Amino acid sequence: MGRIYYKSNVFDYDEAEHKTILEILRDNMIYYDAPCGGNKTCGRCKIRIVYGNIVKGKEVQSISDEIVLACDCIPFGDIKVMPLIGNENYAVETDFKKTVLVNPGEHYSGIGVAIDIGTTTLVLYFYNLDNGEIIAIQTAVNLQKSYGADIMSRLKYHCSNKTLMNEIIIAQINDIIAKTASLYAFEPKDISRITIAGNTVMEHFFGGIDAEPIATAPYVPTSLFGIEQRAMNLGIKVSKNAVVYFAPCVSGFVGGDITAGMMSCNLDRTSDTILYLDIGTNGEIALAAKGRIFCCAAAAGPAFEGANISCGMGAQSGAISTVYLNEKNEIQYSTINDVEPLGICGSGLVDAVAVGIKLSIIDETGRIQKGNSLKIAEKAVLTQKDIREVQLAKSAICAGILTLMDFVGISFEQIDEVLLAGGFGTRINPKSACAIGLIPNELFEKIRTVGNAAGAGAAELLLKPEAEDRIQFLAEKCTYIELSENEFFKNEYITQMGF
Ligand code: FES
Repeated sequence: MGRIYYKSNVFDYDEAEHKTILEILRDNMIYYDAPCGGNKTCGRCKIRIVYGNIVKGKEVQSISDEIVLACDCIPFGDIKVMPLIGNENYAVETDFKKTVLVNPGEHYSGIGVAIDIGTTTLVLYFYNLDNGEIIAIQTAVNLQKSYGADIMSRLKYHCSNKTLMNEIIIAQINDIIAKTASLYAFEPKDISRITIAGNTVMEHFFGGIDAEPIATAPYVPTSLFGIEQRAMNLGIKVSKNAVVYFAPCVSGFVGGDITAGMMSCNLDRTSDTILYLDIGTNGEIALAAKGRIFCCAAAAGPAFEGANISCGMGAQSGAISTVYLNEKNEIQYSTINDVEPLGICGSGLVDAVAVGIKLSIIDETGRIQKGNSLKIAEKAVLTQKDIREVQLAKSAICAGILTLMDFVGISFEQIDEVLLAGGFGTRINPKSACAIGLIPNELFEKIRTVGNAAGAGAAELLLKPEAEDRIQFLAEKCTYIELSENEFFKNEYITQMGF
């Protein structure tokens, strides 16, 4: 039996099981950042071994003060490890802080929680249901991140252990609710209503429903939700009579976060032609036109979340979030919280590539011309592989937009507005997004950011009794277009790869 010392914790482990440091930490509910899910391909689960023994081949080696990959290091005996800055959980920001007007006639009562479950981030909005006033907003990194940054990695683990993802999310939500209750002087049992807006896979995980069918073609989910369940049946520790409402999904990859976001942006009540983009680990795209809503999901990969990028990181303190040129055409940057740069997040990445193109360091094929890297800062150097990751991600999104437009038969001029939703959408510089071809240039003047629209939709569902019927109707108005089999998409995906 060996022991791992991790910060102020001590965990026993069985050496005979040959588990990696990442696996032992997970077994003890320490969810270390592991974007590739422990496949040894992203290089992002670095951890410092202060002292101890590790297994190398058939040998046991003693090391001290060395940085290793947590997913590629098997400890032996007692070992002390320390997280690197940036690999622990971090607080995330949300910009949605509004009080929702409740109907003075019919409304719910008690305390309610609207939960936006993202693949990367959780946001919980606590409301007084009687008057619509917000009590608290809590944000956290989704602890499932230790099983991969993207949905497909999580699904892979889910297929071999059907309860694991459910247990992690339910425990984390219960923990946040308990801490918030004690901070704001109420009891968890005062909570009478919860609404969930998450992507389809996250809603399956939260509901304890088998998500395996979404992992393989034709990607048909077990449930499209739009349902209420008892909180106690889901393991949520609130009032025993509390109900949980799940926003309806459209398909395996257009989920309740998108229907909730579209409702909060009134896509079901407009006669305008509106393009709605939520770019995260996946790019969900909707086009409200001709009295209907057309949707698709483009597998952009996690590059814009900072994963799969050599110096990438989440939008946390120390991340380079903007990159620009000064009047002498020198590269400048700013970081979140104005501290020393530790890496680059999605918005900084888009800016950096736009700057690289402007300076002709990156050519129209994506090749780095001068040297073989683009240096933004000491700890933010983009490699040729990083640029290729951006190309794959941005061409998927752009091709998705063009495919929807082609399917509906509308031109750029006919689009009245482009709404950018979600954390990345809010931080991204629209000029840079157009410069790299993530969004077609023709739409630049029409772009507007709408913040956490999914959270706003979840809040409406929490507070307005009529919202459940409305969102159900909205979901039924949606036509889903599967991109993986679409010839137009395949051609555009190749065409849009360049800059
Ligand atoms: S390299 Fe360890 S999680 Fe990706």
